[in-house]
Amino acid sequence: MGRKKFVVGNWKMNGSIEENQSLFDGLLSAKGIESVDIAVCVPSPYFFQARGALSGTAISWGAQNVSEQDSGAYTGEISAKMLVDLGAEIGLVGHSERRSMFGESSGLVGKKAMKLIEFGISPVVCVGETLEHRKSKKTLEVMSSQLKAVIDQIGLENLGNIVLAYEPVWAIGTGLTASPEQAQEVHSHLRQQVRLLDVEASRELRILYGGSVKPDNAEALFGQEDVDGGLIGGASLNLIDFLTICRAAVNATTH
Ligand code: 13P
Repeated sequence: MGRKKFVVGNWKMNGSIEENQSLFDGLLSAKGIESVDIAVCVPSPYFFQARGALSGTAISWGAQNVSEQDSGAYTGEISAKMLVDLGAEIGLVGHSERRSMFGESSGLVGKKAMKLIEFGISPVVCVGETLEHRKSKKTLEVMSSQLKAVIDQIGLENLGNIVLAYEPVWAIGTGLTASPEQAQEVHSHLRQQVRLLDVEASRELRILYGGSVKPDNAEALFGQEDVDGGLIGGASLNLIDFLTICRAAVNATTH
């Protein structure tokens, strides 16, 4: 079973021209990480910088959000067409910060994912439960419903074009991480849900874990059967930490 591990940095609203450049330079000169896919999702003012630094290299870049609309009077929004024009390869949709702070519903998340697919960009679809959901044992139910809402929009034929990211809301930026077993339980459930619809797509689907992934917990998480890499927030802003996490993905691949 050869799902290539994938490590994605989500810089959120952080960075400066100078800081970004040193991260790009450091990632591009790092050795020993060729066997995993690596990408960074940068803030939109820095798309041109990412394009200049990363196009034609082994490191991909992408956006943290996209409009579900094609173009027009949508002040402040960014279209999938613009992303493809610039050479972005991936786009996050449905991050819990967008769901909770900007009121994005699962249906809207699905529309955004579909818009990226239309333009040939891989959506990294984020799903995740709150602490209340987990305490009331609703985690798997919530995962099924967030996933279904996206599949309803993209259709079965596009199941092979997405990456999923399981990000428990209670683990994001809190220093609390899902245990490898908790992550595996949810990842395996998500894969099973896809398997019911398309066995082949379920085998190839990459499901990333996100939520306080750090150098000291990455390898155990990535070593789980259904954990195909990580979506990294805070630790992706520190070159050494991010590279250590990428190497953990390399190690988890070879063991
Ligand atoms: P942290 O790694 O900072 O917890 O953030 C996770 C995340 O939200 C990535 O999208």
